[in-house]
This record gives sequence, structure tokens and C-alpha cells, in this order.
Amino acid sequence: MALSASTYSHDRKWWKEAVIYQIYPSSFYDSNGDGVGDIPGIVEKLPYLVSLGVDCIWLSPHYASPQIDMGYDISNYQDIYPPYGTLEQTQELIDACHAYNLKIIFDLVINHTSSEHTWFKESRSSKTNPKRDWYFWKSPRGWKGGKPLAPNNWGSIFSGPAWEFDEATQQFYLHLFATEMPDLNWENAETRKAIYETSMHFWLKRGIDGFRVDVANKYSKNIAFPDAEIINPNVYEQPNSKLHYNGPRMHEYLSEIYEVLSQYRAFDGGEIMTVGELPNTPLESDVRAYVSAAKKQLGMVFHFDTVSLGLGKTPGNRTLLQPYTAKDVKRTLAKWQSFVNGTDSWTTVFLENHDEGRSISRFGNDKTEELRTRSGKLLAMVLATMTGTLFLYQGQEIGMINMPVSWNLSEYKDVWVVNILKQLVKNGANKERMDQVLNALQMVARDHARTPMQWDESPHAGFCGEKATPWMRVNDNYPKINVINESAKSDSLLNFWKRMIGLRKEYKDIFVYGTFTLVDTDDDIFAFIKEGEDGKRATTVANMSSKAVPWKPSSRLLLSNVPAGNDTDTLQSWEARIYFN
Ligand code: GLC
Ligand code: CA
Repeated sequence: MALSASTYSHDRKWWKEAVIYQIYPSSFYDSNGDGVGDIPGIVEKLPYLVSLGVDCIWLSPHYASPQIDMGYDISNYQDIYPPYGTLEQTQELIDACHAYNLKIIFDLVINHTSSEHTWFKESRSSKTNPKRDWYFWKSPRGWKGGKPLAPNNWGSIFSGPAWEFDEATQQFYLHLFATEMPDLNWENAETRKAIYETSMHFWLKRGIDGFRVDVANKYSKNIAFPDAEIINPNVYEQPNSKLHYNGPRMHEYLSEIYEVLSQYRAFDGGEIMTVGELPNTPLESDVRAYVSAAKKQLGMVFHFDTVSLGLGKTPGNRTLLQPYTAKDVKRTLAKWQSFVNGTDSWTTVFLENHDEGRSISRFGNDKTEELRTRSGKLLAMVLATMTGTLFLYQGQEIGMINMPVSWNLSEYKDVWVVNILKQLVKNGANKERMDQVLNALQMVARDHARTPMQWDESPHAGFCGEKATPWMRVNDNYPKINVINESAKSDSLLNFWKRMIGLRKEYKDIFVYGTFTLVDTDDDIFAFIKEGEDGKRATTVANMSSKAVPWKPSSRLLLSNVPAGNDTDTLQSWEARIYFN
């Protein structure tokens, strides 16, 4: 097969080669028995992460917060949520990571603050407060039956209206997420300066190595605030993503952020890294404007085409499960691989984070123990051989799966789910619609990623002390799926992940940096060739289905995920192979 010669070889950077492990602090490890994970708990588990072979951790928000949205609602960028720990303990975590030769990046959540942030409290206090303009305040567009009408028909991503009326000053403020998460006004240069100072300089001075940038394309909005097009005539609030994603000044703001970050270095002298969250940006050309190295904005971004499979058609909709097939999975994965071939852009490789269902449940098969492990290994082989920076989410390495379908909706804690349910009741949804929603949530609710990490088979999976009550119910399968069990079995998914991470590093010219070519195959097979600059090649072949499919063996088999590991002309269900050509 002829491969097109790559015209550009990717610059080598630590953050391209790193395997980055995301920690969701509330659910990782509880060191003091109050049922909530904490920062000293993370420090205690660093040797585990070292043994896995990861190079960097991404810590989801640990800042002071009322926890309406699990810390993505920050009330003080320069302080810590007390149950997680103190400023001092956070410094200890940063230093401990570096002592283990691990880097650490924080979440940068700057599209909005909590309504408990002093900036917002001042802003809402009066129309003439100097910080009034730090958020978006608008008068009602009119009154109806004694009630104020919102300035426009925008809906919140977390369902309901995006505007909240404030009695005291008789104006509405904008909140694209929860009511308690007002959007900051980035048009105001003074606001931007305060954001850079408190959320970036403050932590970079304390030694962190970079940021994951929350909704990195949302700070610049259409500030004429026009009504959104009416898609759903049955309700007032309409989807409006085009009006507040990728706005006109987005690149200007990101250039400013780049300028702040470039004043610092990682602990070992490397570059400060950034990875942006980039929802609602399907076009390659739009993405390139963010991640082309020449643009000096973001190092790389998370693309949502794959993890959004199954979600409803309108952005943010998780209430109507859409059918998807293996063909969609490979099409979307291949899209962002081809995107970087021969360019100065970079990409990410991931299937999980704190906002998504578990990958084995969504893209593999969690129906039997054998298939869980086998399809988990298949996903590991695919991910670890793709080009881009590899991100793993806590528990993915031991093959944690979605919450059981038998669980009641009361086990779902996410504000998004709570709001969806409130809205459905308000709109008088019937049983059929409720079942539809439940069916969708069982696959794609964010809660699936947030159940406590399963460490061992003791009560609460060793996540917290036996006497403590974990903040969220531990998945019933923990006696089987846990770190101790997975470490003990030589053919476990955890040990397989360690091996895959090792191989990825050993052959990084091919797996991390190589040129990607999709092989034309049967719909259920995802096969691709990776070629390093020196012409060395590997082929990954993955049967993403529960049926056996024919396959013509090619050259030298490096690895397979089935016990016998024979290079036969049939791929068993969920069998994957890696060949060296
Ligand atoms: C991002 C986060 C998500 C959060 C939202 C609002 O999408 O990943 O968890 O709810 O931003 O900050
Ligand atoms: Ca704790």
C-alpha cells in the first residue's frame, strides 16, 4: 500500500509523548475517612501511577467551590475546597509529583465562576458597582403577566433558560451552565487581567506544568445576544451553541493566555502545556486555527466526535440515545488522526473523562467478564497506537464500566441529570419519554465516570474507610473489578495497559508521532497503519464486534489480545492484533 509521504515532521515535545492520567479528586482516594476523595489521598497513590507508566496527571478542579457542578463552579481560584485539603497540601502534591518525575496540570475554568465568587457578589450588588460589567447583565425584553421576559431565548446547556432574573437590580444575568455559574464578561480587559492573575500566574508560580482549559472556545460570545433560531417550537428556550462558541475574539483571548503561559516553564525546563476542551467545533479548518503551532494558542484540544456518539442531535442533549455503530467509532477516530498528518497541528487520543460514560460500556462489550477484559484490551491497543497525546481517565486502566442499569435514578448526582429531570416534570413528560431518557442516561450520563475508584475488595472498594459513607455509591462489581485483583492476574487489563504504555514509548516514532493511514476493511474492523519517519510501520487491526470476521494475516505479529494469540485468518469477537510490517 502506498503511503503519502509526510511533508512535515512533528516537533518533539514532552507533552506530545506524555501519557496523561486524569484524576477526579472526589472519587479517587479518601485518605481521612469522610467519604470524599482528597489531595493527601492522591499523594498516597502516586506510586501506583508511576507503576502504571503515566507521565503527568491532570487534576479536575480542586478549588474553593460550592460544588454545584463538582468544582467547575469556582468561588476562589486561589484557594482549595476544604474537604480536598489545603493550599499547603496542594503544594505538597505538586512537589511530590515532581519528586516522582511526574508532571501535573490543573483545570482552568474561566468561562464562568461560581455565583459565590466575590467578583459576582460585587457585580450583583448594584448596577453601578465597578464589577457590574464583569458579567453579562441585561434588562428584561419586556414583561408578561407581571413576569420579566428573558433578554433572549437562549437555553442553558444544563437545561432550562440561560438567563436568571435578579430581583435586587431587576436585571437578568447570563449563565450558559447552571444558574449558580454566571458567565464572565471577557470583553472587559480588566476582568481578563484579574482572571490571568488569579487563575494562571498564581498557580504557575507554584510550579504546575500546564492546564487543561475548560470550554476553551466559549469566552467570546455574540454580544448582540440575538435570539437563536427556533428548532423546537414546543418550548421557549432554544439551542444556541453557534452564538456563544468560537466567537469573534476567541483567538485574541487565547493568544493572550499563550503569552501568560509562555512566561513560565515546566519543572524540568520543558514547555508549559495546554489542552483545550473544544466542543461544537466539527470542522477541521476551525480546529486548526486553535492548534496549529504557528498560531501560538493551544497545544492540542479534545475533539468530541467519538465520545458524543449516542448523544442527542442538539448540543448538550443526553436524553435521547442515538444509534451508532463500529463504523461511526472508526470514522470519528480516523478523522482526527488524518487531521495531524503532515501538519504542524497536534491532537489528543482519549475515550473517557469525567463527562462521559465508560468506554468499555459504550465502545466495547461489558456483558461478560471475558468480553469486558478482551474489549478493554482492544481499546487499549487502538488508543496506545494512535498519534497524539494519550489521556487515560481514572479507572479506565482497570476496565471500570457504567453504573448498573438496575440502579435507581437517585444514584445519579450530576446537576445536569437533576436539571433534566426537573425540566421533564415541569413539561409534563409521559412514561414513554421518561423511559427514553432513562435509557439514554444509562449509557451517556456523566455519573458513570464519577463513581469511586475501585482499589480492592474491602467494603466501598477501599476508596474510603469501612465506616465512612462514600459521597457516591460504589459500583456493585467492585469485588471483581479492582486494582488489587487486576494487579494479581498476569493477563488482566491493568497489566495489559502497562505493557501497551511501555510499547507506545518504546516505539514512539511510530505510535506517538507516526503518519496514520486508514485501511479499507469490513465495517466492523478498525485497521490502520502507522509509519514512522524512518519508514518503519505497524498495523493495528481491531474487530469491534461480537462476531468472528475473516482477516488476512500480514507480516510479523507483535501482540494480540486473545489467549491463544494465533495469527489465524479469522478475528474472534473483539480480537485485536498489532503487526510490524
Ligand atoms: C466542561 C467540564 C464539565 C463542566 C463544564 C462547565 O465541559 O468538563 O464537567 O460541567 O465544562 O464548567
Ligand atoms: Ca477525604
